[in-house]
Amino acid sequence: MKAVLLVGGEGTRLRPLTCNTVKAMVPIVNRPFLEHLLGYLRSHGVDDIVVTLCYLPECIERRLGNGAACGVRLAYVMEKTPLGTAGAVKNAQSHLDGPFFVLNGDIMTSIDLRGMLSFHRERRAIATIALTPVENPSAYGVVETAPDGRVKRFIEKPPPGQAPTNMINAGIYVLEPEVLRCVPRGTPCMFEHHVFPTLLSEGAAVFAYPTRDYWIDIGTPEKYRQVQYDLLLGNCASALWAGEVRADGVDMERVTLHPSAMVEGPVALGAGCSVEAGARILGPTVLGEGCVISEGAVVDRTIVWRNVRFGKKASICESVVGDDCSIGDGSVIEGGCVLGDHVVISEGRRLEPAQKVWPDTTI
Ligand code: GDD
Ligand code: MG
Repeated sequence: MKAVLLVGGEGTRLRPLTCNTVKAMVPIVNRPFLEHLLGYLRSHGVDDIVVTLCYLPECIERRLGNGAACGVRLAYVMEKTPLGTAGAVKNAQSHLDGPFFVLNGDIMTSIDLRGMLSFHRERRAIATIALTPVENPSAYGVVETAPDGRVKRFIEKPPPGQAPTNMINAGIYVLEPEVLRCVPRGTPCMFEHHVFPTLLSEGAAVFAYPTRDYWIDIGTPEKYRQVQYDLLLGNCASALWAGEVRADGVDMERVTLHPSAMVEGPVALGAGCSVEAGARILGPTVLGEGCVISEGAVVDRTIVWRNVRFGKKASICESVVGDDCSIGDGSVIEGGCVLGDHVVISEGRRLEPAQKVWPDTTI
C-alpha cells in the first residue's frame, strides 16, 4: 500500500528546535521522528512511501536514503516553494495509481490503518478522514459528521469556543486518485481549506473514521515533550522504542554513572553520557549522546539533545535543550523553556519560565 508523507512545513511552532532541524527529524527518544513514523507505517502494511519535501530537504534524504534501513521504499518529491498539503500530493501524482494514504508528517499514533482502508472500501468513499478527540479543537481541523459516518462540515481551526465537536482531523486520509482532479498543479492548495470543503459542497462521498487510539501532533514544544513522556511511561508504543528505560541501575557500558548520582526513572540515556557525583535525573527524561550532568545538577522531566553539558548544581525542569548547549554552574532553567542548538547559559543565570533561546546565543 502506498502513502504520501507531508513533511515540507517549516515547523514554526517548534522553533527554535526547528531552526537547524526539520520538524520531521527532531529526535524522539534519540531517533529522528520520521523513523518512528516509517516503523508505524511498515507495521501497518504501508511500505511504498512518497516523501514530499520543501523546508531543509537535504537532511531527510541524506539520513533515510531509499528507506531500506527502515524496511520501506522511499521516493522523494521536492517543492521549490511550499505547495500546501494538497499541492504537495498533486506534485507526487506520478507516483500514485490506486487509493493511497496521506499522512501529516508530525503525527505519532497507533491508528489502525488496515481497519481504516477496509472502512474506506466498504463505504466506497472517495476520501476517508481519520478523526481523533482532543481537548482544544480550535487548534486543529474540526470535522462534523452525520449519523451515517459521512463528513458534513470541515472547519479548519475555528475560533476558540466555536467548534461544534471535539472530533478533529487526525491528519491521516485515504484518498482515491480522482480527488487530485480538484487540485491545481504547481500552485499552493490545502486539503483543509480547499479540497475537503469543495468535495463536500459537491456532495462527494467523504467519510470520517473516528478512533480513540493514541494520537498526538508533535508540533509544539509541549506536545514534543509529551510524546516522549508517553513513550517512556508506556502510554504509547513505537517499534523503535523497546523501552531501554532505566528506572534505577543504568547500562554501564553506555553511561558513566557516579555511585552517588540518582536516576529516578523512566529515563532514556544516550551513549557516552556521564552523570557525576550527587547529580539527579528525574524521569520522564531523555538525554542524547554525550551529555554531561555535573556534580549536584538536577535534570527533571526534560528532553536534552546531544552533547549538552550541565554545570555543577545547574537545574532544569520540563524543558527542551538542543545540541551542543552548555548550561553554566548554578544556572536555573524553569519549566517550559526551549533552547536551540549551541546555546551558552553563563554561570548563575535564571531563565524565565517558557523562555525560548535562539541557536548560537549566549546569555
Ligand atoms: N510538502 C509540504 N508542503 N508539506 C507541508 C506543507 C507544504 O507546503 N505545509 C505543511 N506541510 C506538512 C507539515 O510539514 C506537516 O507535517 C503537515 O503538513 C501538517 O502541517 P502543520 O503545519 O503541522 O498543520 P497543523 O498541525 O496546524 O494542522 C494540520 O494537522 C492537524 C492535525 O495535527 C491540519 O491538517 C489540521 O486539519 C489537522 O487537524
Ligand atoms: Mg501539525
